[in-house]
Amino acid sequence: MLDIHFAPLQGYTECAYRQAHFLYAGIKNDGTNLESGIAAYYTPFLRVEKGEARPKDLRDLQQDLEFIKSRQTNICHCENQGYNPPLDSNCHSPLDGESSNFYNVIPQVICRDASEFSILVDAIQKLKKDCGFAPDEVFPQIDINMGCPFPMQAKSGRGSGILPRIDAIREILQEVNIRSISLNHPRVGEDLASHNPHCHPREGEDLASHNTHCHPREGEDLASHNTHCHPRVSEDLASHNPHCHPREGEDLASHNTHCHPREGEDLALKHSQNALKFSVKMRLGYTSPEECLALLPLLNEAPLAHITMHPRLGVQQYKGALDFDTFQKFYEGCRHPLIFNGDITSIADIERLEKMYPNLAGVMIGRGLLANPQLAHQYAFQKSVSKICQNAHPHSNSLQALLQIHEALLADYRKRLQGDAQILDKIRPFWTYAVEAAQDPSRDHPDIPKRTIKKIAKARNLSEYLDAIKEIA
Ligand SMILES: Cc1cc2nc3c(=O)[nH]c(=O)nc-3n(C[C@H](O)[C@H](O)[C@H](O)COP(=O)(O)O)c2cc1C
Repeated sequence: MLDIHFAPLQGYTECAYRQAHFLYAGIKNDGTNLESGIAAYYTPFLRVEKGEARPKDLRDLQQDLEFIKSRQTNICHCENQGYNPPLDSNCHSPLDGESSNFYNVIPQVICRDASEFSILVDAIQKLKKDCGFAPDEVFPQIDINMGCPFPMQAKSGRGSGILPRIDAIREILQEVNIRSISLNHPRVGEDLASHNPHCHPREGEDLASHNTHCHPREGEDLASHNTHCHPRVSEDLASHNPHCHPREGEDLASHNTHCHPREGEDLALKHSQNALKFSVKMRLGYTSPEECLALLPLLNEAPLAHITMHPRLGVQQYKGALDFDTFQKFYEGCRHPLIFNGDITSIADIERLEKMYPNLAGVMIGRGLLANPQLAHQYAFQKSVSKICQNAHPHSNSLQALLQIHEALLADYRKRLQGDAQILDKIRPFWTYAVEAAQDPSRDHPDIPKRTIKKIAKARNLSEYLDAIKEIA
């Protein structure tokens, strides 16, 4: 079964939406386990404004930190009235006291260079600290946006606009190296048990013939020993950063000192302070699909938790067919867990991808989940139904989930915004994708009558709008 990741959508999936989705449509119950049906919620990208992380983006993240804190400390707190997990004798719900990973949020950053990247990562780390969390306690992963097609971002070299700028990406990935905790994924097809995390095959080296136990021998001159990944003699293996190595042909002596502990430097401490994982969300390229293939060696070398690929070009925005041929090439060459993103709106779509790409690590869904918040839930149910038929919960009601999320969002907007016009501007788009789906009979979607759709669109004030919503409630 594939992991389902909730895509970030600026203007839609801010924290009020993420939390409401988690509470009303995120939790899956296969009869034996209670866990989140969403592997991760990604925030819309945080960006730099006037040399600093934009305060509005940080406030959004801060609300998630407060939410996580409230769930950890308030053990009987459960806002999901439509969902009643069994309570134990002390009135503890299985959801209460769960680690923050249960509601797994991955902040996303967009940057044009390593310096913007550092500003944003530092701001996220500082926010966590200011809210009383240890650096690795919450948000242990940060996603890097290399896919945004919006011209304002792309034309300034951010998002998909960074994809042709290999040097900028290299510098960002060097920063990733420095800030990463040790992450070592075996390659596709590599046996996990025999995978030696301190020894990577060389670029182009055949995995089968690669000697996974290849370390400099006693007394061997390290400088002349060809190594992508070896601790220096006398370097402590535990604190060795296996993702920092001189490049092919690079002189070890003059090699960037970030890659190896300096004389007297406590690398373990440095890394524990910056314990983070990173992932990349990208497109095939900005103007050409060759761009992602050219980037593969660089991406493969970086210590990434995963890559999410939306197989279109930046210049296409969201139009035109997905390019499965180039995706296939990228899939074959990519050494990181790979997540597919793009145009997934039904269980059938997910199952098709599962068959086409057996090594896929997951799928990321955006508009399909906004249209049908229960899609991940329904997929999990379908997968589990054959195994635990009797205990599985009944097919969930998509429309009910949609309405519950809507109610939670409206309550949030009413608190934060002023006047009908502002609230309507913000809440009306919530229906965009659900309405689109309702008009397409081929999609798994909640049923919304055309008459109601028209009333929602034409409502002149909040009262008319709420009358329209009542018709489907
Ligand atoms: C309105 C809108 C806002 C988006 N904002 C972001 C964003 O902040 N970060 C990002 O990585 N992708 C963003 N995306 C792209 C989505 O995450 C996703 O890649 C895209 O919608 C394709 O997936 P889907 O077909 O499942 O929706 C946005 C897309 C839309 C339509």
